[in-house]
Amino acid sequence: MMTSLDGKIMGNYMNHPAAAEAGEAFYRIAFGEKPYYRHQGWLSGRVTTDDNFTFYEKPALEENALPVPDGDFAAQPDFGMYYVSIDPAGRLGWKDAVLHYETTTAHVIEVLTARASNTYKSFLRRLGISYIIAGEETLDATLALQKLRALFHINTLMLGGGAVLNWSFIQAGLCDEVSVVIAPCADGSASAQTLFMEKPGISDDTAAGFTLLEAKSLPGSAVWLRYKVERQGIPQG
Ligand SMILES: NC(=O)c1ccc[n+]([C@@H]2O[C@H](COP(=O)([O-])OP(=O)(O)OC[C@H]3O[C@@H](n4cnc5c(N)ncnc54)[C@H](OP(=O)(O)O)[C@@H]3O)[C@@H](O)[C@H]2O)c1
Repeated sequence: MMTSLDGKIMGNYMNHPAAAEAGEAFYRIAFGEKPYYRHQGWLSGRVTTDDNFTFYEKPALEENALPVPDGDFAAQPDFGMYYVSIDPAGRLGWKDAVLHYETTTAHVIEVLTARASNTYKSFLRRLGISYIIAGEETLDATLALQKLRALFHINTLMLGGGAVLNWSFIQAGLCDEVSVVIAPCADGSASAQTLFMEKPGISDDTAAGFTLLEAKSLPGSAVWLRYKVERQGIPQG
């Protein structure tokens, strides 16, 4: 994740010239030619996907769609790089099964619950978008990770934000390491999301602790911090 000095993950600070080098460092570390993390995909919350890729468009559902087969749909089990989106109710208005993020190309996997409708799953199949079902009413994050490994060979998954997703996985004991590039700017926003945020029904404000693994100065007055997530007080993932 990239944050401002005041811990925001989005907002005006991103357009300040002082954020540029931190933004480049963030991309280099996570996705560059020689990335620090060798992951097979990154995970995003529904709001992050809407803000960056699907832009709050409604999915093109066909109300008379035939029933889809039960279970998961692995359209591209060997693509190698995946964009995995948590979308419990099946809301995202995708247009394509492949997305491009700067120099990175990824196949889309939707993580649904049993709340997602037949018409939505049929819509995903039409576009060739993979999906897995993890949980009935609420997300079963452990099951989601097991299925991502078994069906798509995702052994290392980058928790890519936003705030609600990040905190929920930390509280569930499913995050090993926090890695954050801090940009040397701030905007003082009182409403922008911060690095971690609880959401009723998904997570709460029980505190978690972290142990510093590395602190590095980067060009342009940015800082890169890596922390191990301490498991004390949170369940084992
Ligand atoms: N600076 C950075 O590095 C960075 C990186 C990524 C994102 N961002 C920014 O972060 C902002 C969004 O953050 P956000 O915290 O508002 O939203 P978010 O975490 O992206 O999405 C939250 C939504 O995702 C679903 N979700 C996530 N975790 C879940 C869980 N454990 N169980 C069930 N559902 C879960 C829910 O969807 P439903 O509401 O559909 O139930 C939830 O409301 C965006 O503006 C984005 O651009 C910044």
